[in-house]
Amino acid sequence: MKILVTGGCGYIGAHTIIDLLENDYEIVNIDNNSRSTTQHINAIENQFGKKIKNYTIDLCDKAAVKSVFEQEKNIEGIIHFAAFKAVGESVQIPLEYYRNNLVSQINLLELVEEFGIKNFVFSSSCSVYGNTTELPVTELTPRQEAESPYGNSKRIGEDMIRDVAKVSKNNFIALRYFNPIGAHPTACIGEIPYGPPQNLQPVIMETALGKRQLLKVFGNDYPTRDGSCIRDYVHVMDVAHAHTLALKYLVENKNEDNYEVFNIGSGDGVSVLEMINAFEKTANQKLNYEIAERRAGDVVAVYADNAKTRKSLGWEPQYSLDDMMLSAWEWNKKLT
Ligand code: UD1
Repeated sequence: MKILVTGGCGYIGAHTIIDLLENDYEIVNIDNNSRSTTQHINAIENQFGKKIKNYTIDLCDKAAVKSVFEQEKNIEGIIHFAAFKAVGESVQIPLEYYRNNLVSQINLLELVEEFGIKNFVFSSSCSVYGNTTELPVTELTPRQEAESPYGNSKRIGEDMIRDVAKVSKNNFIALRYFNPIGAHPTACIGEIPYGPPQNLQPVIMETALGKRQLLKVFGNDYPTRDGSCIRDYVHVMDVAHAHTLALKYLVENKNEDNYEVFNIGSGDGVSVLEMINAFEKTANQKLNYEIAERRAGDVVAVYADNAKTRKSLGWEPQYSLDDMMLSAWEWNKKLT
């Protein structure tokens, strides 16, 4: 069964390709490599001995994308990862974020309709819940105003799909990722930060490797059990497998509606200080950190109610926080 992946050279896309290959899907990938290289694709082909058909095309170039749809017959489903994703950068260059993330998605959705592609899975984000007070968040928790143009592009992306689905014969799923971290257990691929990392896990790794002097814990005066912010960290291979299950769910016509949303989070809230402890325990190494000012735009706490995902998709996270830390550590040691 042939699946078109967009953004398969990126972090979550590449891990998902591994899971799809292991489940015998044939992969066609479109990526413009504006924030990535083909390194992951090459590594996967070497590690698993399977071919990935790769088109270096910008999704904003509709004619070029259409030519892929004309060449690649029998596309059973699309998983759309390709997007800019740096929250801070999106505040600096909002129009580039809106153009890149939304124009590419409009082009893709138009081609889904034109070519009658039955199944479409979209990468959304828990950022659509904003600064919610309802915890854990379920898929029915009202979305709040987005904290950044990046978050808003995901929110608008969901809305576009919802509206298209109302007049479409095709099926759509949005997966709202919480905080994906970790790397493939073989360390053949992992996260490659684009520019200086701002997310917690790559910052932990860079600090441990001496690439940066210390880690700043953004606030210890939040109303949480230790004062630092709480997030739902989920292993990237568990996130990857959720896409395979979402596709199967659609292909097997198990969906109740032609647009459904699922939370992809472990269900556990973990604080920044607990993350530091987990790293120190796993790597058997002290981390140099200090308490710093709160970071603008951070939500206090967010973690998933994943009951719907477990029940409908049969998804069951397989990896512990220690697994996430260990796999990220192995990958980052290799990356240096
Ligand atoms: C953000 C986005 C999310 C996006 C994700 C990955 C929001 C609300 N969330 O998640 O949509 O998918 O980035 O790009 O915009 N921290 C420190 N020190 C650091 C770095 C982080 O203390 O040096 C803390 C943060 O304050 C936060 C936690 O670690 O409490 C996690 O931060 P981060 O990894 O950046 O992810 P989010 O902000 O949760």
